[in-house]
Amino acid sequence: MRLRHLNPAVATARTVLVTALAAALPLLAPGAHAAPAVPPEPAVKPWLDRALGADERARLAVKAMTQQEKLRWVLAYFGNDFGTKSKKIAEALPQSAGYIPGTPRLGLPALFETDAGLGVASQSGPKVRERTALPSGLATASTWDPKVAYAGGAMIGREARASGFNVMLAGGVNLQRDPRNGRNFEYAGEDPLLAGSMVGQAIKGIESNNIISTLKHFVLNDQETGRNELDARIDKAALRMSDLLAMELALEQSDAGSVMCAYNRLNGPYTCESSYLLNDVLKRDWGFRGFVMSDWGATHSTVAAANNGLDQQSGHEFDKSPYFGGALEEAIKTGAVPQARLDDMVHRIVRTMFAKGVAEHPVKEGGAIDFAAHGVVSRQTAEEGMVLLKNEGRILPLAKDLRTIAVIGGRADAGVLSGGGSSQVYPVGGLAVKGLKPDTWPGPVVYYPSSPLRAIRAQAPNARVVYDDGTDPERAARVASGADVAVVFATQWIGEANDAETLALPDRQDDLIARVAGANARTVVVLETGGPVTMPWLARVPAVLEAWYPGTSGGEAIANVLFGAVNPSGHLPATFPASEQQLPRPKLDGDPKNPDLQFAVDYFEGAAVGYKWFDLKGHKPLFPFGHGLSYTTFAYSGLSGRVLDGRLQVRFKVTNTGNLAGKDVPQVYVSPLSTKWEAPKRLAGWGKVALQPGETKEVAVTVEPRVLAMFDEKSRTWRTPKGRVKLILAEDAAGTGASSVTIELPASRLDARGRKLAR
Ligand code: BGC
Repeated sequence: MRLRHLNPAVATARTVLVTALAAALPLLAPGAHAAPAVPPEPAVKPWLDRALGADERARLAVKAMTQQEKLRWVLAYFGNDFGTKSKKIAEALPQSAGYIPGTPRLGLPALFETDAGLGVASQSGPKVRERTALPSGLATASTWDPKVAYAGGAMIGREARASGFNVMLAGGVNLQRDPRNGRNFEYAGEDPLLAGSMVGQAIKGIESNNIISTLKHFVLNDQETGRNELDARIDKAALRMSDLLAMELALEQSDAGSVMCAYNRLNGPYTCESSYLLNDVLKRDWGFRGFVMSDWGATHSTVAAANNGLDQQSGHEFDKSPYFGGALEEAIKTGAVPQARLDDMVHRIVRTMFAKGVAEHPVKEGGAIDFAAHGVVSRQTAEEGMVLLKNEGRILPLAKDLRTIAVIGGRADAGVLSGGGSSQVYPVGGLAVKGLKPDTWPGPVVYYPSSPLRAIRAQAPNARVVYDDGTDPERAARVASGADVAVVFATQWIGEANDAETLALPDRQDDLIARVAGANARTVVVLETGGPVTMPWLARVPAVLEAWYPGTSGGEAIANVLFGAVNPSGHLPATFPASEQQLPRPKLDGDPKNPDLQFAVDYFEGAAVGYKWFDLKGHKPLFPFGHGLSYTTFAYSGLSGRVLDGRLQVRFKVTNTGNLAGKDVPQVYVSPLSTKWEAPKRLAGWGKVALQPGETKEVAVTVEPRVLAMFDEKSRTWRTPKGRVKLILAEDAAGTGASSVTIELPASRLDARGRKLAR
């Protein structure tokens, strides 16, 4: 078995001591001396009094703990066998991400951890959990509807609780700096305001189940190639205005209980021992009161990590040593790590359990799951997140009375694709396609058994629907040539630890599409991709639907959009480049074959991420950020802006000018006229508006003031000078359908958390 995301050198260097102790003395911190006698269970446990605040309860609980009990909270176990080197600790749930023993004597339950943002995942092994998978995070972000993100989060959180987990490692909000990043599908795109809002709501939904969720990966784990060693170099102020802003907004909206520091280094130190990140930004500037856990294999020291702000070593089997076990105990004895720091680590963990209701709402495996209802939540998210990229001649929606439909490729007969790695959710009913490679980490490649072909047949009962698997483009072209319409499915599998090599669709699918389009002018392309891809055949096909990884009900969702049962309303949360040459780094840094390579990634584009970079450089993308078509049409009017109580408020009207009910996503961008930002404009807000034909609604957007400011690292304040800005109301970042007004903003100064400061 290949070890998941492990660098082989680290795997062999893992000491036998760790494993031996972990197996023999599961409740003892590895490396600890013989445990002193445990005091008896107290007759009264005042920290369980719900009338007290979470901090007071945690203070009382930590005070009642022995040193050994405290140490057990900060060293977490992997919830699976670690290759052949160590066995899963008995108490952990099988094939799970992690386990922390708790302090049963004091009524404090163990923590059971599961991945991740798309549903309850399983680690590899003989018996995976079968659960509901949401569409990819990018699909949810494409809805631009925070309520959809919340509903999805609430659903997967319910399944986590019913599966016996009280910590979800869900809440990935790394910005899409590179469309080839293998984990883009887990995240929410390239804009800090959009990504922060969507992921913030997803976390809030998860935590509404009295479980803890986890904002990750803190920060700048923005490519997978070389992720364990790369040093992400960036100007600090630029970082505050980009990736950190996304995290800050997500944290404010969700009050996430935990934050996971990342694999990579940031401007020198590893993120899990960066005092700047953990102590200064997260705990001081943002006032974070939860706990910081490391990513699995991202802890590299005892003293530096503890003193610089790490609160819990996750899945310690992945690290070279159980740094937060016996070594931490020793470091406290010598004074290298203050006792107060250990107390603070434990306080943060226990406090979060009280604050989120984990302690009083114990989890239990085997709870009932309403798969039918959850499948609907997943389907609705998919439907709302699919992006109609092109629809020339209104070829879509497909008419119900078509006589022949050719469905080609993408394993559309069997199911829909999902992304690989630790976030992998396994579907009820098993894998729709067996035996695909890679079948080991970050695989297996999983297709969910929701067949688009079956769903298309159900929508067009009178049509002859023929399927060709697309492996022979010539044969596929012959099948397509006689049909009323040809629907080609194209897929791109990406995964954790596995960046896409290029933006081209793999396996010569570009050829397939070109051949089919050559044979049938009425060709519709449905994409199931982890992120943006290039489309050399675009001019030759009239319609393209980006379905992303559409989750466990994806086949039905695709058919509903193709036939117009659902009017598409997804908009791109990330730019689709015309080629790699338009990116800040046309070639990805690092070497995928050498995970130990030490190298730096110079994020010289700073905060000019995605559409901001394209604006700055004047590049014309294939499809701009914010783009998304509908089967109806919309018009905007009455744009105005004013400053009310120090906040910019924007108002405008949206009218449905077509014949079908639909939803629009009007976007407000701001462009500075009296000062300079990192790029010509920033997204400042949006609406998601449902309109009947002919209906008009007024939309009001209150602009987050940090989006109008530049961060000053020296004073740690957000500053906006008095001056004019242009408000742009548009259908996308390229300014389609744009109108604009100019207004004057007063000077303002905000603290790091965006709170107004006296001038
Ligand atoms: C991933 C995390 C995940 C963890 C536990 C790591 O490889 O980077 O996102 O939560 O594993 O499975």
